[in-house]
Amino acid sequence: MAKVVVTRPLPEAGLIDLQAAHTVEIYDPVLQGEIDEDRLIALVRGADALIPTVGDPVSERVLAASSHLHIVAQFGVGVDNIDLDAARAHDIIVTNTPDVLTDATADFAFALLLAAARHLRQAEQVVRDGAFQRWETRLLMGMELRNKVLGIVGLGRIGRAMARRGLGFGMKVLYHNRQRTNPTVEREYGARYTSFDDLLARSDVLSLHCALNADTYHLLDASALARMKASALLVNTARGAVVDEEALVRALEAGHLAGAGLDVFEHEPRVHPGLLAHPRVVLAPHLGSATVEARTGMARMASEAVLAALNGGTVPYRVV
Ligand code: DGY
Repeated sequence: MAKVVVTRPLPEAGLIDLQAAHTVEIYDPVLQGEIDEDRLIALVRGADALIPTVGDPVSERVLAASSHLHIVAQFGVGVDNIDLDAARAHDIIVTNTPDVLTDATADFAFALLLAAARHLRQAEQVVRDGAFQRWETRLLMGMELRNKVLGIVGLGRIGRAMARRGLGFGMKVLYHNRQRTNPTVEREYGARYTSFDDLLARSDVLSLHCALNADTYHLLDASALARMKASALLVNTARGAVVDEEALVRALEAGHLAGAGLDVFEHEPRVHPGLLAHPRVVLAPHLGSATVEARTGMARMASEAVLAALNGGTVPYRVV
């Protein structure tokens, strides 16, 4: 039996086959302490497979901690927490869990969009504070979505699912990718390609769906934020560090941006105090893929990849 280390308790239904075949050690940060690089190194020692999650620092030192580590099966689609070059150098397979979380994440991005556009956070507060005294004609007037421009950064799987939702609400969809996507996909999702600058200038809602890498780190910096409409909303369900959080707080405080819906943060799980304090910012603790369906599917996919790798079969969902 091989040793498989899982860094968080995952939906059990997804782990049954893996547990039947191998020794699965499930770490629980709530009971055993948060995971940092040293703790991960200690956990990985002697392991054949690792199932980490977003934010676990799978560095070169972690990958080198077990001489027979064969696969890192990320529980998630983003793999920015894994040193992929080191994995290649050590001949370690890396997989992820695409598709199964696409709709869950796009649903959540759209929920943040709607919450920010209609001031849901402040509205709830009015009721909870007992300040709902009468029906008001001008209380918390928001932004209607029909005919507004939804700008999408990254028209991958989740970006496309977001485009579909935007179209359903009567929005005009523009997008920017490093490389323009093919015309059939553009037609299918009703999305028009434009330059990053034009996207910033024209979007009423800018929604981020790109991976975090050297090119997208602080893509939304002070200069990019300054080129957005003062009435615009920013939605981020991708990765916190795509946005310069300090610059975002300054833009919001100066009224250069109308609001934001944020599921991810630059220094997760820490959140900038300026975001916590701002009334027009809706916040969530990285819940994009948090549905029973998506999380169970993610656990199944990670297990499937580990089983295939340990049996010497063809490994699905490979990134490396
Ligand atoms: C991912 O999959 O990358 C999400 O951020 C966590 O589900």
